[in-house]
Amino acid sequence: MSSETAFHPVELLRWDGIRSWNAYGVNINESVVKNTVQLFETLGLKDAGYEYISIDDGWSAFERTPDGFLQANSTRFPDGMANLADYVHSKGLKIGLYGDSGKLTCAFHPGSSGYEERDALTYAEWGIDYLKYDNCGGFASMVEAPEVRFGAMNDALKLSGRDISYAVCEWGYQFPWHWGGNIGHSYRMAGDITASFINETGCACKTAYCLNTGYAGCSVVTNIKKMREISQYQTPGHWADMDGLEIGNINMTIYQQQTHFTFWAALKSPLIISTDLATLSHESTALLTNKDIIALNQDSLGKVVNYVETASTEGSIQVWAGEIQDGHVVLLFNEKSFQQTYKVSFNSLGLNIAGLKGVKELWSGKSYGKSHTIAAKLAPYQTLVFKLAM
Ligand code: GLA
Repeated sequence: MSSETAFHPVELLRWDGIRSWNAYGVNINESVVKNTVQLFETLGLKDAGYEYISIDDGWSAFERTPDGFLQANSTRFPDGMANLADYVHSKGLKIGLYGDSGKLTCAFHPGSSGYEERDALTYAEWGIDYLKYDNCGGFASMVEAPEVRFGAMNDALKLSGRDISYAVCEWGYQFPWHWGGNIGHSYRMAGDITASFINETGCACKTAYCLNTGYAGCSVVTNIKKMREISQYQTPGHWADMDGLEIGNINMTIYQQQTHFTFWAALKSPLIISTDLATLSHESTALLTNKDIIALNQDSLGKVVNYVETASTEGSIQVWAGEIQDGHVVLLFNEKSFQQTYKVSFNSLGLNIAGLKGVKELWSGKSYGKSHTIAAKLAPYQTLVFKLAM
């Protein structure tokens, strides 16, 4: 792929949206999609900038058509994908689908191995705007390097004649932070997230450079921890996808939800809601539409926060800092189940804050004047987000 056709840098963060998998599994259908579209409007998600309605595994029939084309499951999607895409587009939104680089998807529907160009053309004809492309499919498919398998669909999408955003879902195996961003617009940096805020035993990879021996059971905190090592690879258009947001799927305290959303936003992961919107609480809806936090995710500079090891205490307080278009942002995360006070000195974080105009904590809206040092009180699992306006 030549670099000029690669990516339009920061705009591509704009495929924030919703995806079916974590809430519905394979039990996804046309009326769920249409209700979701409706709720996107009524809950203010569309106005907040969420745009993509993505259907994960389970949308297709178990067999291709006799002449080898992918087809939607006709019971679940009686009107077919092209009509559904028209419907989603008519509401000013975009539509995503799911495919797989192997012979079969993870739920044993047809994969695209050997059918890449044909399937990309099908997606283009249907009017699909986004493709999540997975890593299942059995031994025969896995003998090829992921760059080859995922690269084949990238090439096919380019040939399809439609602008289709491409999300590589290779579970963080084989170090996709070194190659995934050159093939797709994003790459999954870990195995499957589950509805768990903190889980030290699930998800084989707790750090980036461990052996990738398993892919399931990641939690919000394991994915944050893994990003400590790989945030350095985030550059505009080459985004690590931290997987769907689990907000709404389990009982998380408001502080846990804020932590989840803050890190996904500040680390420039796509913000992909993954819950049943009909049951989402007002509190969680307000959190997911918080303009200041979404602005961090969409910041035009396209830089991430990075872990500041020297200011952090392992297993207790994590300090992250980064640059934004009009200043800096500093995150303080209390990893403990009890309240802690942490005195942060912005000067000691390697930030150039000469000319500081003001400090504001984004979740509370509280202003701290031009303070260079703040003694912050952190509730259990809370993350405070200080914006340093310059
Ligand atoms: C894999 C992916 C998940 C989901 C399922 C669907 O596990 O990593 O995100 O798409 O497959 O079967």
